[in-house]
Amino acid sequence: MDIISRKLEHVEICLFEDVESGNTLLDNVTLIHQAMPGISLGDVKTKIRFLGKEISYPIMVTGMTGGNPELGRINGIIAEVIEDMGLAMGVGSQRVALEKAEAMSSFKIVRKYAPTAPIISNIGAAQLLKGYGLKELRDLVSMIEADGIAVHLNPAQEVFQPEGEPFYSVEILAKLRDISKELGVPIIIKETGTGISIETAKAFSDIGINYFDISGSGGTSWVSVEMFRDERKGSWKKESAKLFSNWGIPTAASIIETRFASPNATIIGSGGIRNGLHVAKAIALGSNLAGMAHPVLKEAVAGKDALINFFNRVEFELKAAMMLTGSKDIESLMKSPIVITGELKDWMESREISLSLFNKVRKREYGTSRVFQ
Ligand SMILES: Cc1cc2nc3c(=O)[nH]c(=O)nc-3n(C[C@H](O)[C@H](O)[C@H](O)COP(=O)(O)O)c2cc1C
Repeated sequence: MDIISRKLEHVEICLFEDVESGNTLLDNVTLIHQAMPGISLGDVKTKIRFLGKEISYPIMVTGMTGGNPELGRINGIIAEVIEDMGLAMGVGSQRVALEKAEAMSSFKIVRKYAPTAPIISNIGAAQLLKGYGLKELRDLVSMIEADGIAVHLNPAQEVFQPEGEPFYSVEILAKLRDISKELGVPIIIKETGTGISIETAKAFSDIGINYFDISGSGGTSWVSVEMFRDERKGSWKKESAKLFSNWGIPTAASIIETRFASPNATIIGSGGIRNGLHVAKAIALGSNLAGMAHPVLKEAVAGKDALINFFNRVEFELKAAMMLTGSKDIESLMKSPIVITGELKDWMESREISLSLFNKVRKREYGTSRVFQ
């Protein structure tokens, strides 16, 4: 199956099958209500800086599509809306545009409709292991005048994909270290729905990469997506994919693990973020901003107005959570008190992450040294 047909099948499965699986554990995080917040809803400020630019809300659309005219149309709708609303956006894997020149326009459209927003390129770590290097990454970045490039890690998807290539050797670290010194824009290490751990975050921090899109479990499960493809193709992997459909580090746990391993990193909290309260919780837990994919695709397919209404609702909910916690801006939200209960508390205990130390790290009171040496 060629790469464009596979992308179309992925998008179709995400739109028409139930591909959400697992639990983000964001329900185990409570923001503390302040009966006397000291601010009005209209006073809440949501601006942040991201990749050298100012955005109006700490929200980005994480990479999904591109490759053919229909997918380009979806990219165009998302780009137009995020530019108007002051958000950021990543494109889907640009590998196809390196292999088929005619696919480029479906990515370039993003910069056309979003001339000032932070835009992020995308390529799989697997492609780097197969030979792509500095030149190809530069081409991808210049194709859409990107402000950064996400290198996605998807080992779980590769394992359960009918035609998957689950080769993930450690050479990727040396290669990315060298590329990151020359590239000129930040490299963002991005998962795709199974989360980043302390060990993984530390491995990349050690080579000087400090941007992470953690994409934890509890939202779109790429093991589930591949399960549907296994089923259609009659592959024996279907039952195994079903067994692993909840696999991964829950989003809330992955934000904690990554912030703990890399206190000064820029962290995009994503995977199962579905509303403004999730955005607020992701930030209070340790993210700099939150990312969303699947719900944005669904709204974009319904049209520009549907997507605008969705983001308006998310923004209102984020502001409501900020006012009610007495957080006048995103920095205050990052430092606001939280309560962690249930499975997420157990998770932290099992991973020997002390709550009091984590609170210091979360509030950026830990200085510049890493917690894990
Ligand atoms: C249709 C679709 C296509 C995707 N394609 C890519 C991709 O090309 N590259 C990538 O890094 N992530 C890709 N993702 C993963 C998302 O960026 C995100 O990490 C994941 O879906 C979890 O977020 P969610 O629960 O909000 O969907 C894709 C997601 C969807 C729904």
